[in-house]
Amino acid sequence: MTKLNFNKILITGGAGFIGSNFCRYMMRKYPDIEISMLDALTYAGNPDNFRDLEQDSRFRFIHGDIRDKEVIEELVSQVDAVVNFAAETHVDRSLYFAGDFVETDVVGTYTLLEAARKCGVERFLHISTDEVYGSIEQDSFNEEAPLNPSSPYSASKGGGDLLMRSYFVTYKLPILITRSSNNFGPYQYPEKLIPLFITNAIDDKPLPLYGDGLNVRDWLFVQDNCEAIETVLYKGAPGEIYNIGGDNERTNNEITKLILKLLNKPETLIQPVKDRPGHDRRYSIASTKVKKLGWTPRTDFETAMKTTVDWYVQNQAWWRKLKDKSFDKFYNKHYGKDGEAAPVEK
Ligand code: NAD
Ligand code: TYD
Repeated sequence: MTKLNFNKILITGGAGFIGSNFCRYMMRKYPDIEISMLDALTYAGNPDNFRDLEQDSRFRFIHGDIRDKEVIEELVSQVDAVVNFAAETHVDRSLYFAGDFVETDVVGTYTLLEAARKCGVERFLHISTDEVYGSIEQDSFNEEAPLNPSSPYSASKGGGDLLMRSYFVTYKLPILITRSSNNFGPYQYPEKLIPLFITNAIDDKPLPLYGDGLNVRDWLFVQDNCEAIETVLYKGAPGEIYNIGGDNERTNNEITKLILKLLNKPETLIQPVKDRPGHDRRYSIASTKVKKLGWTPRTDFETAMKTTVDWYVQNQAWWRKLKDKSFDKFYNKHYGKDGEAAPVEK
């Protein structure tokens, strides 16, 4: 891609799904890169996600929290750029533990911003979500659309975004924001729709489909998002927000049936369950702005879904460990045994 004038990057929340994919992608591509990955290793952060990077002298891991002012200041003072993936990310959890979302997604973002302001950085890229715009029945949101979040998750992400913008306007901090649509791919924690349904289907467990299954999401393969984040980091204009969509709008019904088809499992595994409170009907964003920087999603959707299903089939040790731990604790408490959500009340 471009000629970079910085190579020391702090990646916060890098032990999660997108962050670990991004670190791997950048280390393969840039021989001179130096990555400091900080992560609190919450239930979603997983050392298995970056084992393959640990032996590389260009990589170091720091176990820490983005709200820890001292640790963050020290790390930010050593790098040229910050990319923040750290967040509480699961909408269903935000319905029960909203405070955790405010703490990390708002207060954590503030702590990073203060450190960046104090130490100075060339770029501070914050990874956000299309969910801050809320639901849209027709057409697509561009970056000028007002924020209209529905869940404590998206509201907290919106709060972080607004703080980011304020530090650009007030302090001229060179911030950037990406707002991507729903990602899927290897290393996604098996609580989100696609990995939950793949792993349940492998074990012939029910797939708890919320409501009428007609909610629409725009699916983006994580590799395409990594390329978009790289593009925005090096080519984006400070202060700007970039939507990153996959151009793959599908209903949850369609996604569920495709997973079952790829695994050769029967549709009788689909279990309609009570709808999620505040469930956004459709997300849709226009990615015209980032496409002007030269990025476009390159992966064919069905091929990427097959790659993803194959990865979960071949990496059962990775996800079985997770399903045995906190995952079951959360789901058994709130959704019933074995990850089944409460069945639809007739
Ligand atoms: P994830 O839940 O897999 O990973 C989040 C990571 O953040 C974990 O490793 C966790 O340990 C870490 N973390 C949480 N709280 C922390 C704290 N206080 N300090 C340090 N680390 C902390 O999430 P993901 O799917 O990889 O998402 C990454 C980012 O992308 C998030 O900001 C999310 O809002 C955004 N995003 C995700 C999607 C998606 O579909 N997954 C879509 C759009 C935007
Ligand atoms: P999810 O992966 O939680 O992402 P988000 O809510 O952030 O878009 O959910 C994607 C869609 O799948 C959403 O419409 C809710 C639905 N869904 C189910 O129907 N059943 C489930 O068990 C989960 C986790 C999600």
